[in-house]
Amino acid sequence: MPLSLPGRFGLAVPHEGKRAAVTDKKSVFIKTYGCQMNVYDSDRMSDTLMPLGYATADSAENADLVILNTCHIREKAAEKVYSELGRLRVLKAARAAEGRETLVAVAGCVAQAEGEEIIARAPVVDMVFGPQTYHRLPELIERVRAGERPTATQGKAPARPKVVETEFPAEDKFDHLAAPSEKAVRSRGVTAFLTVQEGCDKFCTFCVVPYTRGSEASRPVEKIVEEAETLVAAGVREITLLGQNVNAYHGVDAGGRTVGLAGLLARLSELPRLARIRYTTSHPRDLDEALVAAHAGNSKLMPYLHLPVQSGSDRILQAMNRRHTAAEYVALIDRIRAARPDMAISGDFIVGFPGETEEDFAATMDIVRTVDYAACFSFKYSPRPGTPAAALADQVPEAVKSERLQRLQALLEEQQKVFAERLVGRTLPVLFDKPGRLPGQIVGRSPYLQPVAVMAPSSLIGEIAEVTIEATGGHSLIGRLEGEPMPARRSA
Ligand code: SAH
Ligand code: SF4
Ligand code: F3S
Repeated sequence: MPLSLPGRFGLAVPHEGKRAAVTDKKSVFIKTYGCQMNVYDSDRMSDTLMPLGYATADSAENADLVILNTCHIREKAAEKVYSELGRLRVLKAARAAEGRETLVAVAGCVAQAEGEEIIARAPVVDMVFGPQTYHRLPELIERVRAGERPTATQGKAPARPKVVETEFPAEDKFDHLAAPSEKAVRSRGVTAFLTVQEGCDKFCTFCVVPYTRGSEASRPVEKIVEEAETLVAAGVREITLLGQNVNAYHGVDAGGRTVGLAGLLARLSELPRLARIRYTTSHPRDLDEALVAAHAGNSKLMPYLHLPVQSGSDRILQAMNRRHTAAEYVALIDRIRAARPDMAISGDFIVGFPGETEEDFAATMDIVRTVDYAACFSFKYSPRPGTPAAALADQVPEAVKSERLQRLQALLEEQQKVFAERLVGRTLPVLFDKPGRLPGQIVGRSPYLQPVAVMAPSSLIGEIAEVTIEATGGHSLIGRLEGEPMPARRSA
């Protein structure tokens, strides 16, 4: 049972080890933007700060340290950070008037991309550090706080030194970040993320990720297995392996052999109490036969694949540097569905990439109809500084992008609805993970990642039970519990 705690980062639990000394009671509030990798990183930052005496605050108002873990993928995402910093400036001044100090840090992909610019544009910020430097967090805080000491300069407190850390250090950040404690894991529930791969070498012409996360790197197999064991021992039943290109995973095992994602999945599925495994995000170029075969043979691997194609037009795919055609993508989907016929496919689309014509967009609508998605994310192209596509001359007008996005989203939403409706009357295994909105209701996940609401006792949270789907509500499902659930320990 997860503990019921304020905030999503759980209790302050000092870890044992070299940084275990609790100096003074402080609290941290981490606001997370962007992808699941940032969610994972925020938890790791929280775990790293606990030994320093940082408890979790439920809001920025109550925090001595506020960290914005940011996303740079589209202009809107980056701009959100600056408006939040405006709010924090007021808050910091109000707390200072009450004699309370507030440190403000910007982490994540905006930090990596804009480093010094953030300090110049938002003086409220004390620290800026990129995604590969989180293991240095205790040292960075120390450096900023050391500058607080008054000097002789006319009795005025000196300006705080600004710390900017945006290197890609050679050492593996994961080796130095605090491992999650059992209590922290329990507070986060029965599903967990585990980053196995970071960075990207693909250089799609629209994308900032290769610049903000650096080049592709995979964690060693044993480290991942060790972390998965910690998660499972603390009650986690479902793990989602993360990577910007997770299926490009190629970690080294104890015997010095290089293992691909399928091999890693096989290793993890040996953990007896781990019931379900997922992975995201995959690139079509890296989906090998071993991974297709894993979907046919590994019963712990959930039938859900997030495989973005971005566009259905070969001309646009080429301009995006995706290095595959629309037909190759469709052929891949066919192979996956041959291995696992009920596979739910999800994806990402960009509309209005420079030079996209109505004909190109029609090809995108066509590929959507061909694939038939269970879920999908779609975005208007956003020119990102420093990426090749931003410099292209034939940018698509905003109004055209909006209109195309509307048409695409209407189609994708319809497909998602139909996918959910097809499940009505079917009996599915559901992993319950939290209480529902109604009294007596709990919510879980179908194998296809949809939320499923069921009237059942909360003691079933953390267990998998058969549920007959009776209705849909948008993309969520409503079901009836079938017979007795399988206790957690026997259901793996
Ligand atoms: N590695 C993943 C994608 C990570 S970014 C992949 O290759 O599929 C998540 C999604 O954001 C992308 O799939 C893309 O659809 C979208 N995206 C990235 N850059 C964008 C941009 N400049 N404008 C609009 N959408 C973008
Ligand atoms: Fe970005 Fe392309 Fe890498 Fe995905 S594969 S993270 S879209 S550069
Ligand atoms: Fe955003 Fe960085 Fe993730 S740019 S999508 S937070 S990798």
